[in-house]
Amino acid sequence: SVSSAFDFAPNLFPLSSTAQGYTALGAPSNPALDPSNALNGGSLEKNKSLTYLNGLSLVVGLIIGSGIFSSPSQVNKNAGSPGASLLVWLVAGILAWTGAASYAELGGAIPLNGGAQVYLSKIFGEWAGFLFTWCAVVVLKPGSAAIIAIIFGEYLVRAIIGAEAVEASSWLNKGVAMAGLVAVTLLNCISTKLGTRSADVFMFLKFFALIGVTVIGIVVAITGYHYDTPATEDWKTQGWFEGTTTDISSMAVALYAGLWAFDGWDNVNYVTAEFKNPTRDLPRVIHTSLPLVIMCYIMANIAYILVLPSSLIESSNTIAVAFGHQVFGPIGSLILALFVTGSCFGALNATTFTSGRLVYAAGKEGYLPEIFGTIGLGKSHRAIRLHSLNANPGKSRIPRVFIDWFADADAGFFFTPIAAMCLNAALTAVYILIGSFDTLVTFYGVAGYSFYFLAVLGLIILRVKEPDLERPYKTWITTPIIFCCVSLFLLSRAVFAEPVQTLLVVAFMVVGLVIWFAWVGRRRGKSGNRFRKVQEGEMVKVGWRFWRRWKT
Ligand code: ARG
Repeated sequence: SVSSAFDFAPNLFPLSSTAQGYTALGAPSNPALDPSNALNGGSLEKNKSLTYLNGLSLVVGLIIGSGIFSSPSQVNKNAGSPGASLLVWLVAGILAWTGAASYAELGGAIPLNGGAQVYLSKIFGEWAGFLFTWCAVVVLKPGSAAIIAIIFGEYLVRAIIGAEAVEASSWLNKGVAMAGLVAVTLLNCISTKLGTRSADVFMFLKFFALIGVTVIGIVVAITGYHYDTPATEDWKTQGWFEGTTTDISSMAVALYAGLWAFDGWDNVNYVTAEFKNPTRDLPRVIHTSLPLVIMCYIMANIAYILVLPSSLIESSNTIAVAFGHQVFGPIGSLILALFVTGSCFGALNATTFTSGRLVYAAGKEGYLPEIFGTIGLGKSHRAIRLHSLNANPGKSRIPRVFIDWFADADAGFFFTPIAAMCLNAALTAVYILIGSFDTLVTFYGVAGYSFYFLAVLGLIILRVKEPDLERPYKTWITTPIIFCCVSLFLLSRAVFAEPVQTLLVVAFMVVGLVIWFAWVGRRRGKSGNRFRKVQEGEMVKVGWRFWRRWKT
């Protein structure tokens, strides 16, 4: 059973050797590779052991990432005043909260694995599910990875070389972001466990950094202590709402930046099926984790505002460094920079892991060229592994402990969806090269919220069309309605606020639809409803454990 909240974390990414070995190798002779062992027996039971606290730390850990250390500049810049920025954070948080509650209901009503892809397919037809997967592969996953990598780069360059280097040119940051991306991708190509083992460590780092900022901010506010020249304390001289923007579109841009920090709430679904007592614990998890994150973020923002002059908040994506410097001088900025760098690296690692699985699943599904649905380094690599597994199961020249820890116990090194991960890394690299934090956050938000909107709209449709459907968790009907209204407002403002990014998202969607109706969808029409077969057969039986969580 799960003994601590963090024991559960490795199961978060359970592309276990069993599931992976099976899909890659065909029916295996090694009993350890027989999926029925893992799927019908122990591990399933084990997965049912999630308690309230496990779920809480899981959701909080999924949401807190780079955003709270990078979004404040864009929020404050566009909202115009400290008070308005705090309101933006509150609205963003509540939007995320209503979204998470809605997704929990969807997850219970449609208990299949795959998140939005499945809900959209069930409610609107498979084209919608395909469109989501397509956009996740080309926009959402690489886009979010690029944002995190860019923040990683900015913080690391600031920590090691200094602020001047960041301001002089963005290419140094981008180079470091790229190096981080390559490192993380390589790590995830070599082994699954290498990647997932490190996730726990990073989870602690994030908590620690955020709580540290809040506590320091409060202490500084009370004692008036500072290292740098006394803060200008704009909030005292200018008032909290002085300068608030009257432009609705700027408000929308500020909201997108805030929403980035709250993103990840859709992952609530990955814990749905894991609870011992979902009807009781799932709502408890949602209604405590989201308020907790909202509170943490608002506290951290108050800390930023109390300690830093607003011009500084608005001018830097690396607010934690400025914060550390203001309070403790160079050492402070270095320490905070390293914390945030670690947090971003962890987030990049987790997202790379899951992107690999998403692209892999899309390849298997026939949504992408077949090559992306393969595991390992190609046919000969597979044959060698299979041979050595059959010849001497459990034996290897590499010490067992080492393999257990770092590689997939039986499959070995490089037994990962390498082609899928390379595609994801290539797309991410393009976004890093052409984008910046500010532009990418809106781009990502527009694409992301289009699908969140559709899925939650689907919830309302489902309530009307199938009122008797069993729903282990049912939200108040106003929840999805609020979510739909606010996100529709956000989406409608996007065109005015950031036309280029919005049109780009629309273009990607159009391309996706063309691909579906001209090609992928037609092919499936001929082979019967392949979606149903794959969904309920292969994915649920063989791949279900990782399929359920292919996306973080
Ligand atoms: N909220 C996270 C952050 O602040 C971003 C999560 C990215 N979203 C995702 N589905 N991976 O960094």
